[in-house]
Amino acid sequence: MRLVSLSMLKSEMVLAKSIYYRDCLVLKEGICDLERYSNSLRRLGIDYVYIEDSKSYGIEIPDAISEETRLMCKQVLRQTIEDFAAKTVVDIQELSAAINSIIDDILANPDIQISLNDIGAVDEYTFTHSVSTTVYALIIANKLGYQRSMMEKLGAGALLHDMGKILLDSKVINKAGKLNEEEFEHIKKHTTLGYEALKKCVNLTELSRIISLYHHERMDGKGYPTGTPAAELHEFARIVAIADVYDALVSDRCYRRKWSSNQAVNYLVEHSETQFDLKLVSVLIKQIAIYPNGSMVRLSDHTTGIVKEQNKNFPLRPIVRVVTDKWDQEIAPYEVDMLKELSVTIIESELEMSWDNITGSFVAEE
Ligand SMILES: [Fe+2]
Repeated sequence: MRLVSLSMLKSEMVLAKSIYYRDCLVLKEGICDLERYSNSLRRLGIDYVYIEDSKSYGIEIPDAISEETRLMCKQVLRQTIEDFAAKTVVDIQELSAAINSIIDDILANPDIQISLNDIGAVDEYTFTHSVSTTVYALIIANKLGYQRSMMEKLGAGALLHDMGKILLDSKVINKAGKLNEEEFEHIKKHTTLGYEALKKCVNLTELSRIISLYHHERMDGKGYPTGTPAAELHEFARIVAIADVYDALVSDRCYRRKWSSNQAVNYLVEHSETQFDLKLVSVLIKQIAIYPNGSMVRLSDHTTGIVKEQNKNFPLRPIVRVVTDKWDQEIAPYEVDMLKELSVTIIESELEMSWDNITGSFVAEE
């Protein structure tokens, strides 16, 4: 299995993971002739798909949670947001069941290396992002040795951390260009509005609610809404701040393409101490595959290949299935175990091969 952009689809490729849109099945795993669906997928805002072909046969892309859990969480979150918008009572029961499914999956697979993020349509971002943020936050919590009851509280707050955004002007939320000062001030309100609104969810604990209020605070006190140094805030807020930004970086947005895991990890490290808690960043990045399974990389001998497997504790040196020579001609695939072939290094990864896909720097309003 590997991830390809729609522009790279070829007739021999088979869809390896079903595609859902608004909780409905759009294309079922196993479908061939994917090129004929590419325009329809683009219209839905989907740019990448998981495929199986002869080059990627046998390559597995592990996911921290199962597809069923991910789907169930998105459905529950969609319902919660609808209830929230309609100002009806928000059912925390179902939300708890969804969070417990995530926790079960994480506990069943505690050493998983996070490969690729969930692929979703751009306008489904709220759902895919909230679920992925919760998964990353709970992976950090598990590595920190949290008890289950604390993981449940953290998970509930993480899943609802951006709930305040539904109370904002959707034109500003979905704006493709850079926000002006006034628009940014408007976006900042999602923290306090979300926190106040979550007070109406009687079964939600205050510990869960504060995540909504404080997830944009920074270690240096230059965050919002209160400017309290994050070191003085509850660890829940510091964990979700990291999970939130990591997932935003590796996701496609309406105004920029996704970053690679490598670029996103570098961003977290560069901004540690000023923006993020370095101790918590180091916990998360140990669980992230820098060159994820299924992604294309260029090696120092200028051949290209697909990452097949991770070498534990050596994230920069995975096992790569080489598929083209240095003139970009297809060749009979062979494997390079970079832990044995020490002179070989990775010089580019798929998403970094087109740096111009990154427009502007990442900004705090994400
Ligand atoms: Fe936020």
